[in-house]
Amino acid sequence: MPQKTSADLRSAEWFTAPGLRGFIHRERIAQAGYSRKDYEGRPAIGVFSTWSELNPCHIHFRERAEDVKRGIWAAGGFPLEVPCMSLGEPFMKPTTMLYRDLLAMEVEENLRAHPLDGVVLMGGCDKTTPGMLMGAISMDLPTIFVPSGPMLSGRWRGHPLGSGTDAKRWHDELQAGKITPAQYAEMETAGARSAGHCQTMGTASTMTSLAEVLGFTLPGSASIPAPDSRHRHMASACGRRIVEMVWEDRKPSTFLNPAAFNNARVVLQALGGSTNAPIHLIAMAKRAGITLELADFDARKTNVPVLANIKPSGAYLMEDFFHAGGLLGLMHRIRDALDLSLNGVNGRNWQENLEGAEVFDDDVIRPLDRPVYSRGGLAVLRGNLAPDGCIIKPAAASEHLLKHRGPAIVFESRDDAFDRINSSDLNIDANSVLVLRNCGPVGQGMPEWGMLPLPENLIRAGVRDLVRISDTRMSGTHFGTVVLHAAPEAAVGGPLALVEDGDEIELDVESRTLTLHVSDGELARRRAAWRPRQPKPKGLWRTLYADRVSQADNGADVQAYPEKGIPTDETGSC
Ligand code: FES
Repeated sequence: MPQKTSADLRSAEWFTAPGLRGFIHRERIAQAGYSRKDYEGRPAIGVFSTWSELNPCHIHFRERAEDVKRGIWAAGGFPLEVPCMSLGEPFMKPTTMLYRDLLAMEVEENLRAHPLDGVVLMGGCDKTTPGMLMGAISMDLPTIFVPSGPMLSGRWRGHPLGSGTDAKRWHDELQAGKITPAQYAEMETAGARSAGHCQTMGTASTMTSLAEVLGFTLPGSASIPAPDSRHRHMASACGRRIVEMVWEDRKPSTFLNPAAFNNARVVLQALGGSTNAPIHLIAMAKRAGITLELADFDARKTNVPVLANIKPSGAYLMEDFFHAGGLLGLMHRIRDALDLSLNGVNGRNWQENLEGAEVFDDDVIRPLDRPVYSRGGLAVLRGNLAPDGCIIKPAAASEHLLKHRGPAIVFESRDDAFDRINSSDLNIDANSVLVLRNCGPVGQGMPEWGMLPLPENLIRAGVRDLVRISDTRMSGTHFGTVVLHAAPEAAVGGPLALVEDGDEIELDVESRTLTLHVSDGELARRRAAWRPRQPKPKGLWRTLYADRVSQADNGADVQAYPEKGIPTDETGSC
């Protein structure tokens, strides 16, 4: 790697500039309490923290930022902590997805505009990981990622409680009369016992793991539980390493390439990871100038079974995964399917990074001949209902519904679904196919509404799953026979907009098809009569977003992608 000198530092353009310009910068950094010895000749490192009291998954980030800064000082750098928009999954409505690209833009422009030579990104709660990495990829300065780490395992009356997954599962039991409201209320304080992101294999665990596979973290980082003292050690090690990375000029463009994304796809299948991962990986790849197609995410393209026995596809939680060997143990187990020649932020390749990695519990990280699910984590479907594709997670679906034909019941919005789901007029039975539309990228910003509720009478009768189809997403912690991301979406006139109650829909996961059994002539008639029905989005950002966002199969990204590769004119101007 090229070695920089202090004269090459980007921050020197601010701090050593001649005349009034340099004076003002030095005067104002002195105002913050720093003297010349603190910053002269040292790489200035942004510590971009998504701490927020509205994001309990990141509530430890104030302390972790101090650990990172300790490492930066120790390695001869100059840390500058910068708050970034935090996308707290539980509280942001209608969805954090609407703000992923706003965070990406904030990270990119904070880097571009400020006297920084490198950055430590602190994220973990779902969209914070792709959002921050997308911005950093676009800017392409030396970058290292500190994953927030999963929270501790939840437990209630002897039952493991996994974020999202078990809240939903036990809610069904509540509706079925199997537990009391008081018992359900007890779980409120038993599930989320510490700082850290959801401890199921939801989007957060998936994306922090994939950030590690892509090379953005120190190896072994993503699986460390948030409250573990080793998480603090990892944070300070990131601080030390980013300073070296600046001298080495080790930027995302030095380790991101198609093979790195291939490794991420393979690990995604073995993790049984979130259905949201393809959207985020496609968006990240496009920002790096790398082509990644939705079809690449079908399990048949990787031939790796699900090995991580973690909820919602499996039985355990991320704390168990960590003690069983974590991501490195899992990667070691599937090393023959990975390109081990690649390296990342630490400059060592995966062959070296996986030395000594082991699996310590074969029930949590299954051997290849005893997988959790043999046919892989994700399936990409096509058909006249989703010509540009849609996705399902068979590992978290009901086996008996993976091939199913039934009459559609159509909901125009989430409110419509909640208002009518228990109406006797609907005539829902176990054969029905629930359709939710107008919730795609343009329609609603893709909220995690895809796991539509089931009617109470069916739950009481023992039904726990129906085929559900939508142009939106579902939480990575959720489960069921749920077809997601149908593209193009209904709000732009995709075929989902043309479905009527009673139309027969056929799902066939084995043949990778989703078919609306309505004649082409009838569909043409309906299309001619179709009119967009979306209300105008509220607020400037939502208006801009709806104007620019791409469809799910293109990563639902608002950025106009550069023709080739990563933009390089990034020295900024002070
Ligand atoms: Fe933050 Fe799930 S709520 S990761």
